[in-house]
Amino acid sequence: MIPAAAQSRFRLIEGEQLQSESFAEAVEAGLSRDPKKLDCRFFYDETGSLLFERICELPEYYLTRSEREILVERSREIARRFPRDTILVELGSGSSAKTDLLISAWIAEHGSLRYEPIDISEEILRESSLQLLERHRRLTVHAIAGHFEDGLRRIESAESGAKLVIWLGSTIGNLTRSQAIAFLRNVRGSLSERDGLLIGIDLRKDVGILENAYNDAAGVTADFNLNLLDRINAELGGHFDRARFRHEAKFNSESGSIQMFLVSEESQEVAIDEIGRTFSFGAGERIHTENSHKYSIDEIDSLFHEARFALAERWFDSNGLFSLNLARPLP
Ligand code: AVI
Repeated sequence: MIPAAAQSRFRLIEGEQLQSESFAEAVEAGLSRDPKKLDCRFFYDETGSLLFERICELPEYYLTRSEREILVERSREIARRFPRDTILVELGSGSSAKTDLLISAWIAEHGSLRYEPIDISEEILRESSLQLLERHRRLTVHAIAGHFEDGLRRIESAESGAKLVIWLGSTIGNLTRSQAIAFLRNVRGSLSERDGLLIGIDLRKDVGILENAYNDAAGVTADFNLNLLDRINAELGGHFDRARFRHEAKFNSESGSIQMFLVSEESQEVAIDEIGRTFSFGAGERIHTENSHKYSIDEIDSLFHEARFALAERWFDSNGLFSLNLARPLP
């Protein structure tokens, strides 16, 4: 519950929730393909979201730590580049933990801020907004529960003020390179020339560092990946035995991405009641569950170029593992 004192500073807007393919339809289509594939957006049920938060704290998963380091050092400088009435719009805000650094710096620099987080989970939005509103008395939150597209439509129709769209965590890496360009073009279409885009993008690097980040010693990433099977069991009456599958994460140098798979340990048949079908898995057969693309500097530059953005500034963490990029829309 948002306390009465903060209610005037909080609004929750329901997005139109674009009609997307249902989970059952997507699972049926994905397991009928050869090779089998499930979309990584299905990782994030309640357990999956909690596991992802644990991943972010793992010693091997340098992405969150590196991006946080850049935000600690640069948030004030970023805030200074925008007028005080700028609206901060965040795509896929989640817990807003890292964004809190930017929010604090912004309020210190400009006195107040309007923050518009967009997330698919209304519950997470309420929880994170409550925490932010309690911490910052000069903050107003207009949260948007919906898909990014809902959020972008809102950005377009927002009344006044410049906008800074932030997209952290290298979530762009979970799109293919052509999807990434198409999505950024969409973002560009929602912005005017005084606006900005602040985007965290993970860099290409030593394969050992990359593969370790997705094969942590504590097995949290394996759990995160296998949770997809638990989710199918819980929501669709699936009969997966997660002990008969294992997690695999490997760097594919051709696509420049970490690819995650669930590998069937043996030949088996698995029924999914709600779909009314049984799916066969050969021994060693893989379900492709995620791509996490890594970018070189040149690739980031061409991504911006293709999407009609110009780089304004790029920052790196002290180990040079991760990049935070501030871009401005080109006319
Ligand atoms: C959300 N996304 C940017 C994460 C990544 O690194 O691709 C998801 C993840 N998958 C395994 N570990 C983390």
